[in-house]
Amino acid sequence: MSGERIILRPLTVRDLDGPYRDWLNDYEVTRFLETGSFPTTPESLRRYYEQVAANPDNVLLAITDRRSGAHVGNIKLGPIHPIHRRADMGIMVGDKRVWGLGYGGEAIALILDYAFRRLNLHKITLGVHADHAAAVRLYQRLGFVIEGTLKEQLFRDGVFHDKYVMGILRADWERRRA
Ligand SMILES: CC(C)(COP(=O)(O)OP(=O)(O)OC[C@H]1O[C@@H](n2cnc3c(N)ncnc32)[C@H](O)[C@@H]1OP(=O)(O)O)[C@@H](O)C(=O)NCCC(=O)NCCS
Repeated sequence: MSGERIILRPLTVRDLDGPYRDWLNDYEVTRFLETGSFPTTPESLRRYYEQVAANPDNVLLAITDRRSGAHVGNIKLGPIHPIHRRADMGIMVGDKRVWGLGYGGEAIALILDYAFRRLNLHKITLGVHADHAAAVRLYQRLGFVIEGTLKEQLFRDGVFHDKYVMGILRADWERRRA
């Protein structure tokens, strides 16, 4: 899938030897993520990859720079629930040099199109630290709404933080595009 600035392609085993592992060991990148609290070794990254990539309930894609081909992040849909036709979404733009340039927004727009028009899903959900302003704003701009707040659900920097559960329905996504 390609957009103006990025291409989404499958994450491959070769990507594990690139910058990916450094992102997971960078506190600035993983601050608001569930991953990253423990050090990521080549072995643990490989185990994670095999677990996720081997599971057909997940779609794990590399976000690459359209011009240079550089791997700049990942986006994941899953687990995909076939009965409820629902999936969670997670994104990490790991290359901090491209933050704020629209890569994340483009990756999410592409994966929503894939989720709704290709996989025929009904709803995409995600969880986010309530004080992760850049992410919350980005998700809202793309049509996600805050459906609920889980009080003091997440521990970060010595304090418990609220978590927003956000979602977007296919019908609402289609209405926005019309
Ligand atoms: C959150 C994240 C996905 C945003 O990706 P991105 O490529 O920087 O996003 P975009 O450039 O498409 O746009 C993001 C919006 O946030 C703003 N933004 C981006 N980085 C920001 C920052 N560090 N501080 C404040 N605002 C920021 C942008 O200006 C833009 O807002 P606008 O549309 O109102 O102008 C990315 O920073 C990231 O992956 N961070 C690390 C992992 C993470 O936190 N993932 C999300 C977990 S829920």
